[in-house]
Amino acid sequence: MTKTFLLLLFCSLIKSSVSNNILPRGSSLSVDDDDDIITSSDNTFTCGFYGFQTNAYWFAIWFTNSKNRTVVWTANPNRPVNGRGSKVTFQRNGVMVLTDVDGMVLWETNITSTDANSAVLLNTGNLVLQNQKGQILWQSFDYPTDTLLPFQTLTKSKRLISASRKGSFQSGYFSLNYDSNNVLTLSYDGPEISSVYWPSRDPNFDVWKYGRSSFNSSRIAVLNDMGVFISSDRLQFNASDMGFGIKRRITIDYDGNLRIYSLNDPTGLWLVTWKAIAQPCNVHGICGRNGICVHEEKPECSCPPRYEWSDPTDLSQGCKPTFNTTCVNSTSFGFVELSHTDYYGFDLNFSRNISLEACRDICLGDCQCDAYMYKLNGEGNCYAKSALFNGYSHLNVEGTIYLKVPIGMETPLSASSVLTSSIAICTNASVVTIGPPSMYESSDTKVKWVYPYSIALAVGMVEALLILLGWWVFYGNNAFVTNLEDGYRLISSQFRGFTYQELMKATQNFKVEIGRGGSGAVYKGILEDQRVVAVKRLGDVTEGGEFWAEVNTIGHINHMNLVRMWGFCSEKRHRLVVYEYVQNLSLDKRLFSSSFLQWEQRFKVAIGIAKGLAYLHHECLEWVIHCDVKPENILLDAAFEPKIADFGLAKLSERGGQNEEFTRIRGTKGYMAPEWAHNLPITAKVDVYSYGVVVLEMVKGIRLPNVIVQGGEEEESALMRFVRLTKRKILKGKELWIEEIIDPRLGGLFSRKQAAKLVEIGIACVEEDRNKRPTMDSVVQVLIDCESELCYEQ
Ligand SMILES: *[C@@H]1O[C@H](CO)[C@@H](O)[C@H](O)[C@H]1NC(C)=O
Ligand SMILES: *[C@@H]1O[C@H](CO)[C@@H](O)[C@H](O)[C@H]1NC(C)=O
Ligand SMILES: *[C@@H]1O[C@H](CO)[C@@H](O)[C@H](O)[C@H]1NC(C)=O
Ligand SMILES: *[C@@H]1O[C@H](CO)[C@@H](O)[C@H](O)[C@H]1NC(C)=O
Ligand SMILES: *[C@@H]1O[C@H](CO)[C@@H](O)[C@H](O)[C@H]1NC(C)=O
Ligand SMILES: *[C@@H]1O[C@H](CO)[C@@H](O)[C@H](O)[C@H]1NC(C)=O
Ligand SMILES: *[C@@H]1O[C@H](CO)[C@@H](O)[C@H](O)[C@H]1NC(C)=O
Ligand SMILES: *[C@@H]1O[C@H](CO)[C@@H](O)[C@H](O)[C@H]1NC(C)=O
Ligand SMILES: *[C@@H]1O[C@H](CO)[C@@H](O)[C@H](O)[C@H]1NC(C)=O
Repeated sequence: MTKTFLLLLFCSLIKSSVSNNILPRGSSLSVDDDDDIITSSDNTFTCGFYGFQTNAYWFAIWFTNSKNRTVVWTANPNRPVNGRGSKVTFQRNGVMVLTDVDGMVLWETNITSTDANSAVLLNTGNLVLQNQKGQILWQSFDYPTDTLLPFQTLTKSKRLISASRKGSFQSGYFSLNYDSNNVLTLSYDGPEISSVYWPSRDPNFDVWKYGRSSFNSSRIAVLNDMGVFISSDRLQFNASDMGFGIKRRITIDYDGNLRIYSLNDPTGLWLVTWKAIAQPCNVHGICGRNGICVHEEKPECSCPPRYEWSDPTDLSQGCKPTFNTTCVNSTSFGFVELSHTDYYGFDLNFSRNISLEACRDICLGDCQCDAYMYKLNGEGNCYAKSALFNGYSHLNVEGTIYLKVPIGMETPLSASSVLTSSIAICTNASVVTIGPPSMYESSDTKVKWVYPYSIALAVGMVEALLILLGWWVFYGNNAFVTNLEDGYRLISSQFRGFTYQELMKATQNFKVEIGRGGSGAVYKGILEDQRVVAVKRLGDVTEGGEFWAEVNTIGHINHMNLVRMWGFCSEKRHRLVVYEYVQNLSLDKRLFSSSFLQWEQRFKVAIGIAKGLAYLHHECLEWVIHCDVKPENILLDAAFEPKIADFGLAKLSERGGQNEEFTRIRGTKGYMAPEWAHNLPITAKVDVYSYGVVVLEMVKGIRLPNVIVQGGEEEESALMRFVRLTKRKILKGKELWIEEIIDPRLGGLFSRKQAAKLVEIGIACVEEDRNKRPTMDSVVQVLIDCESELCYEQ
């Protein structure tokens, strides 16, 4: 608590004062203030906090006049900061740092010089730190993300890295950089394979054939203000609108293509005026393992026959076989034929001048062979494939691929049926462009990719958390212990890792079970320092790296209405979390039994829960959605102050595949928002809904089941019936409506105004349309106003 207080105090002391294009030493830009930006003196570029949708913000530079604020640089692409309390400070020691709401430093300029005097955003879009003499000590141009601006050089130590998908800054797998032969290349570097696809698909390509040279080792490239791009490997190309006075950028897009964009100033839209790859299927890695990029009217990823999507929400994950691939006796396999199709690379065996039968026998005789490609080509070339990557299908592709499948599955199929399979799967998903987004007017046909957008959106929020944590996941299992030390210091002295031994001892070998929930059993224990704790044993959870990352986030969270996490244990397959022990019973036991709470306590509990949730949703990190708010998860301490338990755990314990998780319904029947059933994006409003149910139950003193019992027509759940009848009573202006619905066990001892306000809030919270539900922040406001009996009548 004191830590938070100090932090707040600190924040208010260094109040920023910012004007135009210079940030003086000692000042800062705050994410809370939209005016905290710096602009270049000609107003072309703006630098400040950039955020969207979720509560995730980036310190970024963008084109002021572009329609959708085209970002050209971010300091923290993989580690967004919170939309409140985050800031960039140009410290007195001359270092610029980006801190998150909790004070954690996510990025800093690593200059050793201490005489940096001002931070200036130049008209070129370069953010520089310079000293009094005007010497540049640090510049954003040295740390490009996915975009190169005119005059910004690309040198041997720099690379442009694509974003992972549209609307994200998280690093993807495509990059532009100089290879060891001094040639500027585009390459894919994914989790399974890496390969260069520009200037050529061929690893032994002849650079001269592409007009390149590998002799000049200066390795430098630049786009000039005419729109001419010149590289030291003799590569030179021009924007189609070559000439002065046009704002341009060169960007490696998330589809792996490199494009020059020119800004149409009046409309703020971008035009593609050059691109590296004419045929998008020539980009490597886009459709994943076994996937095929089908280049017909619109390029699409698809799966070959007898294969299915590994992850239907992310086609770049490729396809997996639907059959048993175990190969004991290779002769029990046959082949499926796909004409005009090839998988690039991974040749197990290449033979010239042989017959189709001979080629087939080579593949059949080798268990490692997954397929073979046969090209008649005059003499008959045979390529046996050990792995299937970079698949593409186009009428121009000579040759046919033969995929190995068990005997009995080899119905002949043509290439066109491949395409059909992809369309069938995706018909109900919105089609989202990758490549130049549709707002960009491109001279050629627009490139569209099938992508289940609705799910992508749903994933959005929680994914932001994953993005934020991406760097932690990096650590993996091995580095776990060493990095524990670092994390530990960053967070707080109270949060720490425990050994399994320690927890066995504390709980006397898990003797006293005090609860059991969806995510695991809870045991009471006493630590060596005599603190009483609740130890939760999680079932199947993620591997060490992610577990650590997520627990770490939850360990950060410290609020009086949230059960405090004191530590965790991750050893071999054991995953345990250590919580503070909360004395009293959970809310359900204090509501639906004879030892029920009095009104004053109930109201206090309602405010407490609201405060806890508001903290989770707004103060803390918006992407911490509880997802399972219910009386069982509200614990009460000795003074009947509520503490919400189990937040963040839905994620920890239920992750199968990263995407699978979001399609599965979480939460508890009766408290779940309709979004779950309707497959809508899950936002913090699901918690608001559950809160509404809990509040109404607190007023009524009984459960209000929100599950429709199968039976007669037009069944209505008890909750909906209650809401409907209550609304009618209020509308009719009945004097004593509140007396009619309040828990009779209170014997009339309650505040009428408070109860009416709670009902009003409860009803608003369980609105079907989540946009009509209030935010937890506003609920807290209303309830606090009501605390001292001075509720405002509306
Ligand atoms: C760009 O902004 C407009 C509104 O100004 C919005 O309708 C459109 O969806 C945005 N496009 C993209 C690609 O974000
Ligand atoms: C700053 O970091 C970059 C890489 O992140 C490194 O190349 C450079 O040497 C560092 N500079 C200093 C002064 O540490
Ligand atoms: C190498 O490339 C640079 C930049 O394009 C150029 O200035 C230099 O003259 C080149 N050197 C040789 C030996 O061609
Ligand atoms: C680009 O423009 C220059 C003139 O500035 C011309 O010499 C060159 O041939 C052009 N390059 C290409 C690839 O069109
Ligand atoms: C695949 O087949 C082999 C032998 O034919 C068998 O041992 C194995 O269990 C099968 N695997 C699956 C997943 O069916
Ligand atoms: C493999 O199976 C074929 C028929 O399915 C059989 O003729 C052959 O002997 C088997 N070979 C081995 C090594 O088991
Ligand atoms: C390819 O397979 C043929 C027939 O099995 C064999 O003779 C040849 O040596 C193989 N070539 C390579 C490069 O493995
Ligand atoms: C291909 O093989 C046939 C015999 O199998 C031979 O007559 C012919 O010359 C070969 N062609 C080439 C180009 O090696
Ligand atoms: C697509 O959605 C419609 C209605 O939303 C449904 O009737 C149809 O079965 C769905 N098709 C597929 C392939 O899921």
